Amino acid sequence: MEKEILVRANKKFREEVKKGLTTQPKFLPSKYFYDKKGDKLFQQIMAMPEYYLTDCEFDILEKYKSKLTAYFAEKNGFDLIELGAGDGKKTKILLRYLIENNIDFEYLPIDISSNSLKKLEKSIKKNLPEVKMKTLQGMYFSVLEKLSEYNKRKKVIIVLGSNIGNLKHKKAVEFLNNIQKSMQQGDLLFMGFDQKKNPQTILNAYNDKTGITAAFNKNILHRINRELKANFVVDEFLHWESYNPETGTAKSFLVSKIPQQVKISALDLNIDFKQWETIHVEISQKYTDEVVEWLAGKAGLKIKECFSDNRAYYKNYLFEVDKK
Ligand code: AVI
Repeated sequence: MEKEILVRANKKFREEVKKGLTTQPKFLPSKYFYDKKGDKLFQQIMAMPEYYLTDCEFDILEKYKSKLTAYFAEKNGFDLIELGAGDGKKTKILLRYLIENNIDFEYLPIDISSNSLKKLEKSIKKNLPEVKMKTLQGMYFSVLEKLSEYNKRKKVIIVLGSNIGNLKHKKAVEFLNNIQKSMQQGDLLFMGFDQKKNPQTILNAYNDKTGITAAFNKNILHRINRELKANFVVDEFLHWESYNPETGTAKSFLVSKIPQQVKISALDLNIDFKQWETIHVEISQKYTDEVVEWLAGKAGLKIKECFSDNRAYYKNYLFEVDKK
């Protein structure tokens, strides 16, 4: 099963790299930042003082864990399903509180990477051995579909880290709608959305002086070199961040410093770069309440309550299925 997933993933990687680098202007999907090294760099990003998102969400979970528990808890117990759990650092705040208060629940983290799921399971077993847990490997939606078939308990789905911000609005609606389809009346969705704020604060979060974000974004080129036998000279590209305060979209680019040709042997492809030509590698959308409400409405969801940090930098919204 795992081998089959890997073969499919590799095929998709090849197709998407080929499409992105032969389209004008060039682009690459940011989901490919995350291999072993990318995962480590992202951990470092989350610990950077400039990357306020993590601390904000920590504060929100800490401040509202009791209120959230009141929303989540159910006489017959509930299933806490987390999409893209990562290292589960933030989720542990909730898990600990649920355990301390003898709430009946099972924790079901879903991730495409069996490696991160194994690590997560190990650390939960060590730190919170009382948590009943079942890891589910696979693409979010095929797993969610299966869950909605066999699970008759209340479901609380959580998606932390403003991961939705890496999708354009159209894809974000699809993502929310797919989750909505797996929910029944009474089920809840709890999701983080980074907010519009001083544009400089946003630029700093994605343009740290230590160069961790630059290394994270450039990791995609190392990955193509390794997995598709390419010869990107990574230092000949620079990391460039932009933020449009009107649309709330932060965009990351890799910019070719010189005219150059890159050979991708596994794709039998030569790619020419003009000097200062760009590869668009990521969007990180910033939201307002109105935009979140609009996205939710399009996906058949309704906001039940919204939780903010003190500075209103970041918000977690609790959604339910919209009955109408
Ligand atoms: C995972 N995702 C929500 C992060 C973000 O803020 O867009 C990825 C990231 N890219 C650069 N820094 C962090």
